[in-house]
Amino acid sequence: MLIAEHITKSFKDSAGTQAVRDASIALRPGELTVLVGESGSGKTTLSRILAGIIAPSSGTVLLDGKSIVPPARRKEKRLNAELQIVLQDSASALDPRYTVYRSIAEPIRNLMRLPREEERARVASLMERVQLPPELGQRHPSELSGGQQKRVCIARALATEPRYIIFDEATSGLDVLMKEKILTLIRAVHEKSGAATLMISHDMDVALYMADRIAVMKDGEIVENRACCGSPDCLVHPYSRLLLRQMEPYA
Ligand SMILES: Nc1ncnc2c1ncn2[C@@H]1O[C@H](COP(=O)(O)OP(=O)(O)O)[C@@H](O)[C@H]1O
Ligand SMILES: [Mg+2]
Repeated sequence: MLIAEHITKSFKDSAGTQAVRDASIALRPGELTVLVGESGSGKTTLSRILAGIIAPSSGTVLLDGKSIVPPARRKEKRLNAELQIVLQDSASALDPRYTVYRSIAEPIRNLMRLPREEERARVASLMERVQLPPELGQRHPSELSGGQQKRVCIARALATEPRYIIFDEATSGLDVLMKEKILTLIRAVHEKSGAATLMISHDMDVALYMADRIAVMKDGEIVENRACCGSPDCLVHPYSRLLLRQMEPYA
């Protein structure tokens, strides 16, 4: 399990305001949690703390009982292989000089050291898993659509078969059809991997569509965290109800 307890984060330049306030959350194997909240509520900050990218001001993050203390964790290959984050902005997450093949092979080279033949087979199977046609292997990010860039980022994150995967606003900037396809892909990836998955979204409809569990964040605090069966009735906190009322009706 990945457990964050009593996480608080204030940034130096933010005049004492806290981006995250006493937030606790647990990611369990096989469970897909959606962290939902308005823009600026602290979702990305909390996810970066969970991934060990930045340190909390106070609180602890435990992976299988062991504390994750950045920046030391970045040097730990085992941890990097086990816990992956797919960043919101695919275009800037990908190195523009790398081909699709190289981008996906990179974590395999860094963390697994396979013979070239096996590396090729693994990249091919990852591309198939995220439904990228093999001929895209030699393209660069600038020659891909937004949806294809996102698929490359997902394939990269899956390369080492992590047990924990975080998707930050996986569908932002994509059109409605592509958004649905990427959500379907994430659900399939989650189910096949059995990983603990955290998705971050500002859309309550995405949360209801995807989640086994929904955590609602407001002004840095998690105000509600509940197992969810896809029905809006699962959520009872007044702020969650407000977000639900603001949701566009299903088409
Ligand atoms: N590196 C940073 N330096 C200063 N303030 C930050 C930084 N990152 C985020 N913040 C602030 O923290 C708050 C939460 O931001 P963020 O975690 O990005 O929210 P969300 O992902 O929910 O939109 C915002 O007020 C934002 O301006
Ligand atoms: Mg964010």
